[in-house]
Amino acid sequence: MLVRRLSILATISTLLFTPQAISEQRGMHMGGKHMRGHMDNRLSEGGRLYDKWWQEYGLKKPAQTHPAYPSKGVNKGASTWRCKECHGWDYRGKEGTYNKGSHFTGIKGIREYVNTSPNEIMRILKDDNHQYNTVMRDRALNLLARFVANGQVDTTQFIDDKTAKAKGDIRIGQHVFADKCVRCHGTDGTDINFKDSKNPEYIGTVASKNPWEALHKIYNGHPGSSMHHMTMHNSNIRERYKIGLIRSNEPMPSMRFKLSSEGIKHLLTYMQTLPAK
Ligand code: HEC
Ligand code: HEC
Repeated sequence: MLVRRLSILATISTLLFTPQAISEQRGMHMGGKHMRGHMDNRLSEGGRLYDKWWQEYGLKKPAQTHPAYPSKGVNKGASTWRCKECHGWDYRGKEGTYNKGSHFTGIKGIREYVNTSPNEIMRILKDDNHQYNTVMRDRALNLLARFVANGQVDTTQFIDDKTAKAKGDIRIGQHVFADKCVRCHGTDGTDINFKDSKNPEYIGTVASKNPWEALHKIYNGHPGSSMHHMTMHNSNIRERYKIGLIRSNEPMPSMRFKLSSEGIKHLLTYMQTLPAK
């Protein structure tokens, strides 16, 4: 994965290739199947940029508050540069779960841009309102635009807005979880703690408190993640690493096209039964 990260940085820094040329260059000696895999990865990479894009690419995080962030909002600094901070984990902005509370901005969602032209979306990302051209190169903006056009999901198919409960089948979800998540997160999802021992946050916590964020991360992965630290500091993970179940620099994988949307719905439903603290 380090290699992948480096190659991304290299392509960004040279700016010599259009995204099309990059994919042609990489896909040149591959069959159609591999080529498709590559396109899938790009959609998820765009999804990770919707989140903490600076973390995905190892860039410095913005010091200023985003120019479009409304003065009535309560957040400031780098977090206001995450697309999700204004448009929501459910992509519905003020029409969705950010219709009130500490993330309220009154800004609309991006659902109307599903299946529209990535070029038009790129233009929006570079306009005076967004100014993302000041922090990311065209290749990254193109990935973001493709995510907006073709990578969003309708979260109401997965999660009930009123109850925040996922709509799948716990028993089926348990199998999916065992197959795709346990080797890193552990049998009850508590081997990776996103916060600290005093105030723990596990995948069970995220799935119950913010299933929309969990869904986004299941589809796209987690920006700039790596198992490296955990293979050294968590004894359960270290054991599984030693027998070859985990690679040291392995990131949190994207489940886009690895699972069906039904499979993801069942998985999220099971995750809501896991310990939250
Ligand atoms: C600080 C707040 C903020 C952030 C962060 C932000 N946007 Fe926006 N975005 C806006 C505002 C304001 C509008 C204009 C909405 C309107 O016309 O009412 C908008 C509009 C859009 C639209 C057009 C929506 C429509 O239906 O007109 C798209 C697409 C979009 N943003 C994508 C993104 C993406 C992708 C990111 C992350 C790279 C992002 N935005 C980050 C504030 C933000
Ligand atoms: C190869 C190891 C690996 C696998 C497999 C894996 N994850 Fe992760 N996951 C991670 C890492 C590493 C992080 C980031 C932890 C960090 O940096 O705090 C993460 C983060 C997450 C987060 C983000 C939590 C937050 O609050 O930011 C969620 C949700 C999540 N994983 C769910 C899953 C689910 C569901 C599966 C199975 C489909 C899964 N993961 C499979 C390694 C993995």
